[in-house]
Amino acid sequence: MKKTNLLGAITLGLGLMIASSASALTIGFSQVGSEGDWRPAFSADMKAEAEKRGIDLKFSDAQGKEENQLKAVRGFIAQGVDAIIIAPVVVTGWDSVLKEAKDAGIPVFLADRDVEADKDLYVTRISADFNLEGRLAGAWLAQASKGKCDIVELQGTVGAAPAIERKKGFEAVISLFPNMKIIKSQSGDFTTAGGKEVTESFIKATDGFKGVCAVFGHNDNMELGAIQAMKEAGLKPGKDVLMVSVDGVADEFRAIKAGDANASVELRSDIGKDIYDVVQAYLDGKKDWPKWVVIASDLHTKDDVDALMAARGIK
Ligand code: AHR
Repeated sequence: MKKTNLLGAITLGLGLMIASSASALTIGFSQVGSEGDWRPAFSADMKAEAEKRGIDLKFSDAQGKEENQLKAVRGFIAQGVDAIIIAPVVVTGWDSVLKEAKDAGIPVFLADRDVEADKDLYVTRISADFNLEGRLAGAWLAQASKGKCDIVELQGTVGAAPAIERKKGFEAVISLFPNMKIIKSQSGDFTTAGGKEVTESFIKATDGFKGVCAVFGHNDNMELGAIQAMKEAGLKPGKDVLMVSVDGVADEFRAIKAGDANASVELRSDIGKDIYDVVQAYLDGKKDWPKWVVIASDLHTKDDVDALMAARGIK
């Protein structure tokens, strides 16, 4: 290549690099933490999808603490990011910081979990319907138990939208059946260790799960912890006791295949594309979004788990 052509090529290349870095979006994402298997899968998808789209993603892990999220969001505002995505740990305590973002002219999008705040303070929420997930779990259990079942419930993090809504949805369905009731309910904080510990205490309190027909877990990780506790106590989860939970993580599908669990409502973790599609369209000028962009959830049992695992390469 001639000297002048080479110089021209370098100048053009540099120009393109500057142009593309000038137009790259910077998005701050405040994530809950990494409490189970679902959350890290969601984080990984958000990062991979951002990279694919050339988005400069500022990722902040709140380690399950709302105070860390508030700090992170204020940091994003100070940096002047183009948009902020929040997966809120709990529903309360958001108004002030959302107002600060609005005053700074930075649009906020909720991902996954919900908040109890003025809806004008954020653009939209992109997430599954947690109430529907609870109803799906309740309907499956009503059918599997023929409407007669004493249930122990493993609740998610206190004050978190999925714990609130899954409980409400589940209760709405079982209340239609006079012989279905929750006899014990406690939070296992969405973790395997929490689910195991709470189940151990339930086993003690019910003299070895006497009369217990089912364990409803607000997520699979707590249900997997329950399976461990039950096996250690000599019980047969999935056989003597019906096991239904939410998330659809790989280990839960393995447990269903092995007969240790019966059903899981899948919460999709590969939703980065759905979220960034909305954020980018908004920044490109499409401002009229409904306050909730709903992502579908569906229930899986032994009937479809083999096909599902094969399709996803889960061994
Ligand atoms: O917000 C979604 C819930 O959060 C998932 O069901 C659970 O696994 C996670 O902790």
